[in-house]
Amino acid sequence: MKFFLDTAIIDEIRDANATGLLDGVTTNPSLIKKSGRDFFEVIAEIAAEVDGPVSAETVAADHETMLKEGLKCAKIADNIAVKVPLTIDGLKTCKALRAEGIMVNVTLCFSANQALLAAKAGATFISPFVGRHDDVGFDGMDLIADIRQIYDNYEFDTEILVASVRHPVHVLQSAQIGADVATFPHSVMQKLAAHPLTDKGLAAFEKDWADTGFSILD
Ligand code: G3P
Repeated sequence: MKFFLDTAIIDEIRDANATGLLDGVTTNPSLIKKSGRDFFEVIAEIAAEVDGPVSAETVAADHETMLKEGLKCAKIADNIAVKVPLTIDGLKTCKALRAEGIMVNVTLCFSANQALLAAKAGATFISPFVGRHDDVGFDGMDLIADIRQIYDNYEFDTEILVASVRHPVHVLQSAQIGADVATFPHSVMQKLAAHPLTDKGLAAFEKDWADTGFSILD
C-alpha cells in the first residue's frame, strides 16, 4: 500500500519524507489556503521534496478552462498529478489530460458509479472520500470495497487512493480491502506507528538494560 500525505505544509512533508515511508502528496484548494502560500510556489517546493506523485487541483468548473489549468499545473514538475473533480467536465478533462500522458487524480468521489466513470476516463487515481461519507451516516469503507470489486472485475488500472482519512482504522480497513493508496494528514501518520504497549515495553527494556550496567557501544 502506498502512503501519501494530505497536506501543503512543507515541514510536515519533510518530516514524513525523512522516514523513507512517504510515496506521494495530495493537496486541494482548502489545504493550499491552510498553507498560506502561493499555489505555484508551494506545489513546486513539494514536488521537489518528494519523488512520488504530487496532486495539484484545478478550480474551474468548465472543461475548457479546467484543461488549460491542468496543462499549466502539469508543467510545474514531472511528478504532478492533476486533480479534477468527479463531474462530467472533470471526466472530459481527465480523458484529455491522460491522452497527453499527464497523471490525473479524480477527486470528490462518493459513489462506485462515479469511480467506474473515472476508470473509464483513464484516471491514474480515484479519490473516494471515506471520512466525509462516514460524516453523513454511510460507511465509507463499503464504498472502497465496492470500487475494489468493480475495478478487479474489469482489471482497470486506476489506483484507489483513499482520501478523507481521519484515523488509523481507515488505513487498516483500506489495506484489508486492498486499496492502492491511502492519503492522510501528518497527525494520522504519527498515530499509525504509536501503541501504548510498545511504549510500555520499551520503557521496561530501557530500565532493565540500565540495571545490567552493560553497554553496546562502549
Ligand atoms: O484529500 C481530501 C481530504 O483533504 C479531505 O479530508 O477530512 O476534509 O474530509 P477531510
